[in-house]
Amino acid sequence: MRTQVAIIGAGPAGLLLSHLLARGGVESVVLETRSQDYVASRIRAGILEQSSVDLLTEVGLGDRLRAEGDEHRGIYLNFAGERHHLDFVDLTGRTVWVYGQTEVQKDLVAAGTADVRYEVTDVALHDVETDRPYVTYIDSAGATQRLDAEVIAGCDGSFGPSRQAVPAEHFERVYPYSWLGILADVAPSTDELIYAWHQNGFALHSMRSPTVSRLYLQVPNGTDPASWSDERIWEELATRLGHGQDGWKLNPGPITDKSVLPMRSYVQTPMRHGRVFLAGDAAHIVPPTGAKGLNLAIADVTLLSQALVAMLRSGDPALADAYSDDALRRVWRCTHFSWWMTTMLHTSGDPFDAQLQLSQLRWVTTSSAGATGLAENYAGLPIGF
Ligand code: FAD
Ligand code: DHB
Repeated sequence: MRTQVAIIGAGPAGLLLSHLLARGGVESVVLETRSQDYVASRIRAGILEQSSVDLLTEVGLGDRLRAEGDEHRGIYLNFAGERHHLDFVDLTGRTVWVYGQTEVQKDLVAAGTADVRYEVTDVALHDVETDRPYVTYIDSAGATQRLDAEVIAGCDGSFGPSRQAVPAEHFERVYPYSWLGILADVAPSTDELIYAWHQNGFALHSMRSPTVSRLYLQVPNGTDPASWSDERIWEELATRLGHGQDGWKLNPGPITDKSVLPMRSYVQTPMRHGRVFLAGDAAHIVPPTGAKGLNLAIADVTLLSQALVAMLRSGDPALADAYSDDALRRVWRCTHFSWWMTTMLHTSGDPFDAQLQLSQLRWVTTSSAGATGLAENYAGLPIGF
């Protein structure tokens, strides 16, 4: 089989890249190890930056998002028994949207533009330093296949094979804590997200819809989710999020999903080698605080699609040659922001750190310079920054 771009991975990066390439008149085939249902139901990110929403709208994927998503003006920061609202609209003129990654994935599948081969195995990249690279794999019926292409796009997340095809420098930070995340069938107890610093550890109240809440607790690495009963989770969330503070109440409800998420920062540079280009989690991972993972994947493939359309349709390699540097500017900005939010809000047990964190939180909530810096990064810089 032959195509112009062989895309490995049908997560949001791979499917959106295929959609954008099709709009630019470039063919692609997407290879995915998992089933369509599995990929569509993975519970992951939930917040879209303004520029992600604008991009999805521009390319015909914004109808359900705008009808069913929830636009937020900002976030709350809770610490030392006080709740402060940061209004991103006042500070930067930008908003964020609550719309689950599962929903973005469904919209991409419904668009029907991507030719995806699900449940493949043994995916391997070949001849990536030539202008005729190819991918071999075993299809869902067990037959060995070869996909010839002009370019390979590695959108296969942090465990896929594409990363290994790019000789690169790695930068990594592993954090000494994880998140215990729950989904609950209960209306959110807040109109906008609450990020809480508490001496027991960080907590976050997020949401997925008017009837589904998503909440997180900082827990030690290696925590078994089964060791936290539902009752204990709600009690600890109430304590850390400020139940009772100025009359605010956290409403508990049935927990439908419970998992532990380790946290790390990782960047691989460059994001290209020969005819392989990396995008999304295949090239970088951020800790979830600040919700940058999905937004970075969207920004990467926006740049990459423009570069590949220019290269494959007009024979102009300039954007493709600049892709890695262009993408990495935003990657490092988001890597810094995610690290900064994470280290400001998670307790380490060190009393000196705790005082620095509280001082930083006070600055961010009382100085317009501090607040604007957080808001500008959280609501997101324009794609191409
Ligand atoms: P992925 O979504 O990982 O997609 C990669 C795809 O490649 C997958 O479908 C995978 O099955 C496929 N693949 C892997 N290996 C192969 C192979 N050999 N051949 C073919 N296909 C392959 N971000 C937030 O902002 N907030 C959150 O709360 C949040 N929670 C997360 C929870 C978890 C458990 C994880 C892993 C990530 C979370 N993220 C979160 C990050 C966010 O979901 C990712 O940044 C986003 O999914 C990146 O999209 P992607 O398409 O680059 O990678
Ligand atoms: C969510 C996750 C985040 O990491 C974050 O900063 C905000 C929201 C979420 O899953 O809803």
